[in-house]
Amino acid sequence: MDARRLQYLKALDIDVWRRREGADTIAAAAPVEVAAAAATATTLQPAAANLDWTSLEAAVRGCTLCGLSKTRTQTVFGVGDRNAQWMVIGEAPGADEDREGEPFVGRAGQLLTSMLKAMGLRREQVFIANILKCRPPGNRDPSPEEVAHCMPYLQQQIELVNPRLILCVGRIAAQNLLKTDTPIGKLRGQLHRLPGTERPVVVTYHPAYLLRSPGEKRKAWADLVFAMNTAEGLAPA
Ligand code: URA
Repeated sequence: MDARRLQYLKALDIDVWRRREGADTIAAAAPVEVAAAAATATTLQPAAANLDWTSLEAAVRGCTLCGLSKTRTQTVFGVGDRNAQWMVIGEAPGADEDREGEPFVGRAGQLLTSMLKAMGLRREQVFIANILKCRPPGNRDPSPEEVAHCMPYLQQQIELVNPRLILCVGRIAAQNLLKTDTPIGKLRGQLHRLPGTERPVVVTYHPAYLLRSPGEKRKAWADLVFAMNTAEGLAPA
């Protein structure tokens, strides 16, 4: 393991011996359980279905489907490799992201970048997006209506990227993406499928939560190891 990766693991409070042992234990102990694709197939709204990157980006930039269009500084489309093997999906832009127009650029974003680096991935190698493309004022939770309007954009991004694995960070992103009320503690540690599709999804804690609860970083690292092991076992998308 190179020195830089060691540094990132340290940022996650992961001892190296534990990482190696953890990787094996998790692979052996966590059954790859495919969550029942209980939710119904989601149909893309005409506004986003089949759009190419340029048209999709323009549609998001000009979107006025919900009230967040009145309070945003700018839309936050998503960033990274548009042919990535990994897609990371978060909740919604915060103040930093609203200002800069890029997802995960604040403190939580820095931790996310460290988490990716610990996995051997550069930020530019993955595609990062959010459930919502606009910041909810005061960082409140997204409303069901906002999610319903915005989800087709994300669905089309997923179609276009065609990732091998989706890493979903945080309760809000996970529950909305998987269309479930199950608590995040129960969603992590297993392989899910994006409702209506065969696309693999793994859930972990949101980096902002990990900043508030550093004691949970070990569980997050276990999730990332699980995601890496899972991705390795999957055929290329
Ligand atoms: N939190 C998120 O879920 N997404 C961002 O882009 C920033 C913070």
